[in-house]
Amino acid sequence: ARTPLISPSILSADFAHLGEEIRAIDEAGCDWIHVDVMDGHFVPNITIGPAVVKALRPHTDKPFDVHLMISPVDAYLDAFADAGADIITVHPEAGPHIHRTLQHIRSLGKKAGVVLNPGTSESALDYIIDDVDLVLVMSVNPGFGGQSFIDSQLRKIEAIRKRIDATGRDIHLEVDGGVDAKTAPLCVDAGADVLVAGTATFRGGPDHYATNIKALRGE
Ligand code: DX5
Ligand code: ZN
Repeated sequence: ARTPLISPSILSADFAHLGEEIRAIDEAGCDWIHVDVMDGHFVPNITIGPAVVKALRPHTDKPFDVHLMISPVDAYLDAFADAGADIITVHPEAGPHIHRTLQHIRSLGKKAGVVLNPGTSESALDYIIDDVDLVLVMSVNPGFGGQSFIDSQLRKIEAIRKRIDATGRDIHLEVDGGVDAKTAPLCVDAGADVLVAGTATFRGGPDHYATNIKALRGE
């Protein structure tokens, strides 16, 4: 199987030292940096906004993979783009107009991602696959780090891999939630090429980040 890109979720970092944490995962060899934005409305937790993304931007050159769990979402796209997001990923349920939202993200010069909750079918892609650069499969219900991987999502990853290959385009297939050294190879075998990992990256503190990231890659 191919080697996946690793996108550590900073939700599991030390929020009192986020700049240092980002530099540490950068030096430890991560590929992207996954930023979980939650509003206490679309999901039952509150995290960070564009001001924090902007403050973190000078600390690394790696792509910011920004996962928006906020509703309504459209009014905040420009702010996250300006703050330094490279990929902006949105939930169809956070609408009300997913197609328009994806076009808006691309009009800002950013990569557009769509994210499917565990209970959302891959058929949500039917009329938007040409408008996305990335599909994110949630393997937990969004809101919190440290939850267990939901196995049924592997079938969805396989189905989406087939759809992506049929387009002939280079669309990333990313998995988020409960990804660790055990579940990572299952995701890659099912067709994922980017893995988000919070708990499994930050476990043990900075001395362990490089080893943790290697383990996720299967190295
Ligand atoms: C959940 C977030 C995830 C989460 C992953 O709503 O989207 O990115 O931080 O955390 P782990 O890897 O600990 O499951
Ligand atoms: Zn996420």
